[in-house]
Amino acid sequence: MENPPSSPTSRRLTVSSIGLGKLGLCSAACFAGKGHRVIGVDSDGTHIEALNAGRCPIDEPGLADLLDRCRGDMEFTTDHGYAVRNSDITMITVPTPSNPDGRFSNACVEAVLDRISPSLRAKDAFHVVGVVSTVMPGTCERVFVPLLESRTGKKCGRDFGLLYNPEFVALGSVIHDFLHPDLLLIGASDDRSAQTARDLYGSVIESDPSYAVMNLTNAEITKLSLNCYVTMKISFANELAAICEKIPGADVDVVTTAIGADTRVGRKYLKGGLGFGGPCFPRDNLAFQRCAEDAGTWAHLSPRVVEVNREIVDRLAAMVEEHTLPGSTVALLGLSYKPGTHVVEESQPVMLAQRLLDAGYAVRMHDPKALAGASAALRGRGVYCDCPYDAVADASVVVILTPWPQYSQLDIGRLEDRAGPLPLLIDCWRICRNASFKKFEYRAFGTAAQPSGRITYDIGAGILHQDGRRRAPILGRPAVQHPALA
Ligand SMILES: NC(=O)c1ccc[n+]([C@@H]2O[C@H](COP(=O)([O-])OP(=O)(O)OC[C@H]3O[C@@H](n4cnc5c(N)ncnc54)[C@H](O)[C@@H]3O)[C@@H](O)[C@H]2O)c1
Repeated sequence: MENPPSSPTSRRLTVSSIGLGKLGLCSAACFAGKGHRVIGVDSDGTHIEALNAGRCPIDEPGLADLLDRCRGDMEFTTDHGYAVRNSDITMITVPTPSNPDGRFSNACVEAVLDRISPSLRAKDAFHVVGVVSTVMPGTCERVFVPLLESRTGKKCGRDFGLLYNPEFVALGSVIHDFLHPDLLLIGASDDRSAQTARDLYGSVIESDPSYAVMNLTNAEITKLSLNCYVTMKISFANELAAICEKIPGADVDVVTTAIGADTRVGRKYLKGGLGFGGPCFPRDNLAFQRCAEDAGTWAHLSPRVVEVNREIVDRLAAMVEEHTLPGSTVALLGLSYKPGTHVVEESQPVMLAQRLLDAGYAVRMHDPKALAGASAALRGRGVYCDCPYDAVADASVVVILTPWPQYSQLDIGRLEDRAGPLPLLIDCWRICRNASFKKFEYRAFGTAAQPSGRITYDIGAGILHQDGRRRAPILGRPAVQHPALA
């Protein structure tokens, strides 16, 4: 497939968006927000009722406002056929849950293809069908093309087109990420469909991305391998954090800031802290391993990446257990897998809560958005608090897990007043590293605990004094122990 020339269209298209969930509703609203007409379809009638009543059923920053602004260009229905008959292009963003073996299930996508086939068969115009849902490499050519051709009696690439057009967005910033991609990945059955996708996205996005236009199979592999590579980068930073914790004077932020400045490495996703979670990274990593097996080979790196990810919860639990016995209170601040979302799927904070509850600790928890999800995942065990200061009441250990912006504004004195005697504060993202502590023993993940009576200098990361208190950063000082105290 050749890269078609860039020619963002000014033509107003009608886009049917099938599957109006966390990703599909955001992308549908973005298409409408940029002047296209959108027919949104979901099989969940209550979801459609909510949208038709002017409510926004998905909690994602900016989505409700965007929907309010472009309601005139959107209609919502449960009728798949109507949507295809009355649109130029159909984007499918339905769930592809992981099977127990780690491969993605195509059941929902196949159900949609079944539902749209009669309209596709009856339609004279060339219609483009785009799959956004994450699928296993080879699925479009092996499953979706034959299914559509047999149901419609038409030829893919001649009578209709198929796209594989995945998104690289993160929950909590879906709209921003959708509008500002680094990469636009377009897998297409034919040049005409590729050009349609390129024109549609070119008319919507606000960044100047690289366009990667390729065949369907390469796009499927690209989607999985890109996410899998990012998990490798995250695990590398986290392994580095674990190593830095064992080397006096070491500070993972100083090291990752330096290596991230080298463009061969890059800064993004290179901060030592908690591991990856959420609905995409863990399962994409696993699917990449299955993809290698299906191809008759073996992915050696990915299983190790998952192992490093799992060990973080072990390390955190060990820190708690070293400090205090089961029966005592542990406060966990942050439960979602990342800030900006209520989602707790594969969340390391929730895994830690589970582990501590099982070991007999009294666990008190706070999160700005994820209390309900965490309570469901933990079957109501533990205490759920609306305020972080209540969560730390009588705690022997406080762990800052999800780096919500509001946690960097915490009043440390107030936390110390509420905590129990001799409390330990574990700060997974080092957001309180410049605070002064009267009562907390402070452990910043990824930095070594300092032996008492020693002073070490960190570049740009602050200075630890004999009393263990951290002072303001001294930039440009060498990261060596002070000679007078060595
Ligand atoms: N959420 C993300 O950040 C993200 C990022 C990249 C890729 N993806 C991929 O996008 C796909 C969808 O993810 P999501 O998070 O938006 O899922 P979701 O569960 O939030 O939403 C899916 C929607 O599809 C609807 N649906 C299910 N079957 C349907 C059918 N037959 N017809 C019409 N609607 C149907 C559901 O009712 C639901 O509203 C998945 O494959 C996921 O891996 C998601």
